[in-house]
Amino acid sequence: MAKKKINKIGVLTSGGDAPGMNAAIRAVVKTAWHQGLEVYGITRGYNGMIENDIFKFQPGGVSNIIQRGGTILKTARSKEFQTPEGRKKAYENLKKHVIEGLVVIGGDGSFRGAQTFAKEFDIPCVGVPGTIDKDMAGTDSTIGFDTAVNTAVTAIDKIRDTMEAHDRLFVVEVMGRDAGYIAIDSGVSTGAESILIPERKADLPKMINNLTQLGRKNKFVNLIVVTEGDEYGGAEGIKNYIKLSIPSADVKMCILGHIQRGGAPTATDRLLATRLGYHAVQCLIKGTHNVMVGVVKDEMCFTPLDLAVKAQRTISEEWLQIAETLA
Ligand code: F6P
Repeated sequence: MAKKKINKIGVLTSGGDAPGMNAAIRAVVKTAWHQGLEVYGITRGYNGMIENDIFKFQPGGVSNIIQRGGTILKTARSKEFQTPEGRKKAYENLKKHVIEGLVVIGGDGSFRGAQTFAKEFDIPCVGVPGTIDKDMAGTDSTIGFDTAVNTAVTAIDKIRDTMEAHDRLFVVEVMGRDAGYIAIDSGVSTGAESILIPERKADLPKMINNLTQLGRKNKFVNLIVVTEGDEYGGAEGIKNYIKLSIPSADVKMCILGHIQRGGAPTATDRLLATRLGYHAVQCLIKGTHNVMVGVVKDEMCFTPLDLAVKAQRTISEEWLQIAETLA
């Protein structure tokens, strides 16, 4: 059966914002216009679909946004969209605007919603991976990851200056929820002595042993980067563990938090977002529906949404080995 021609599409951002989402929105809108489609912006993720907070993009509507952090469409994690009633309302609103295809920019939670929605209703969806956590299979990186790592690196370098000046021990917590990619990349880039990630059980007694052996004149100078979702409870948990084991250690901690989500996207994130946004629209037009667009080894990769949300991305053994060797 021939695929139905799509004339109007909607775009939304959902879940935690990520630097580069605006560049992706811009690419979606401009590509769609270039192909003669109308584009509708849906605000606050799926909530905007449910509440009919939907507007038609006008010329100039995506000007001057490629360099901006956050998302002009705003974002949310919608509880109501997880219910059949919520999704029905959302569908009815899309029908009112005659929107025939959807680009969803977000992380795995957002794609789970898109997958269920596309199964229930005749609205094809294409996912664009936008999350600082990089925890998605089917793509080598996600929009926002590179910027978040660079933000963390800039902050950790500064912490190291004051840490060295005072001969202190510092525990720095980075985001990533239960994925250690930001920790590995920012930790290796800043020469962290220990990198603790949820995917690997940390050997804390060994870490303490190393610290005491290296301690000069009772000074324990060390930089530890830990993921927020680490089993020991992030920076606070690690700090407490060290204090209990070496009461004389001068330990400080710093939680980098949401600064990792803000700021102007790096060129790498702008390019990734632009490429993914462009291909998302091509997918809707060509009938490659209900997939997540990604880039693997610099080639475009289209992963069915149900696989993208199921498959777990694995931490590179090579980088774990390098991190351990250089610690
Ligand atoms: O998924 C992106 C992310 O920034 C995670 O790294 C973090 O755990 C979470 O979102 C924080 O979410 P919120 O902004 O709702 O606190």
